[in-house]
Amino acid sequence: MDKINRDKLYLDAKAWVLEAGEQIRNKINEPRVIETKSNPDDLVTEMDKQTEKFLVEKIKATYSDHYIIGEEGYGDELTSLQGTVWIIDPIDGTMNFVHQQKNFAISVAVFHDGIGEIGLIYDVMADELYHAKRSEGAFKNEELLPEPRQDLKLEESIVDMNHYFLCPNRIVDEKIMHQMIRTVRGSRTYGSAALELAYVAEGIIDAYLSMRLAPWDIAAGVVIVNEVGGNVTTLDGDELNMLGNNSILACNPKIQEQLLAFIKNGRK
Ligand code: IPD
Ligand code: CA
Ligand code: CA
Ligand code: CA
Repeated sequence: MDKINRDKLYLDAKAWVLEAGEQIRNKINEPRVIETKSNPDDLVTEMDKQTEKFLVEKIKATYSDHYIIGEEGYGDELTSLQGTVWIIDPIDGTMNFVHQQKNFAISVAVFHDGIGEIGLIYDVMADELYHAKRSEGAFKNEELLPEPRQDLKLEESIVDMNHYFLCPNRIVDEKIMHQMIRTVRGSRTYGSAALELAYVAEGIIDAYLSMRLAPWDIAAGVVIVNEVGGNVTTLDGDELNMLGNNSILACNPKIQEQLLAFIKNGRK
């Protein structure tokens, strides 16, 4: 993808994400229509759907030859990442959106022939946009995000994961994860994979682990984390597949080997 095309795409994507965010903010106190999807805790609202529809309509009207992968079904069914593909999560952190009216994000990535070119993660209520173009730096609003700390030690790290890792589960022995949590300085869970990846990129947490995420949860975050020099793989250290679900380890490269060793030790 040449620079002129990418710069235009980036400006359009940014303008649409900010506009979608403003629409959500304007309606944040309105009564919600809440439905459940795969289980009673898997929520979706009218705002998730409206936001995805808004973004898909903008993209289709301007870039009719582009493809879209979106969580709420307004996109395309893809079996390949050839061409230009937008990967959209209209609201990442829907449970936070419903319960807290904050701590959720719009996540939009643009991939070209399988390579992540643009990543945008918009913390709507904080009005903070994490954004990156490949090889041109990653930013939070106007501020350039620094490279990952070189002097980081696992014992001084903050690791972000949800409680499923610490309960009996099918992925990894919880006792090994208890050891990991006792080794690090602290743990966090924010409830929005996109924001959690943005925080890894920002260096305010040092690692984020998840057992299973969809492409729309991670696509923009992967672009932004990679751009600062952080690493993102599966929990087994393998490359990600943007057409399917993946487990995730995103982290400062300094602690990657040690975290992968813990997981390997407890892997089922
Ligand atoms: C969810 C959030 C959450 C993660 C879930 C995702 P959604 O996305 O990112 O943090 O733990 O696995 O499904 O459904 O709010 O877009
Ligand atoms: Ca969802
Ligand atoms: Ca999501
Ligand atoms: Ca979502």
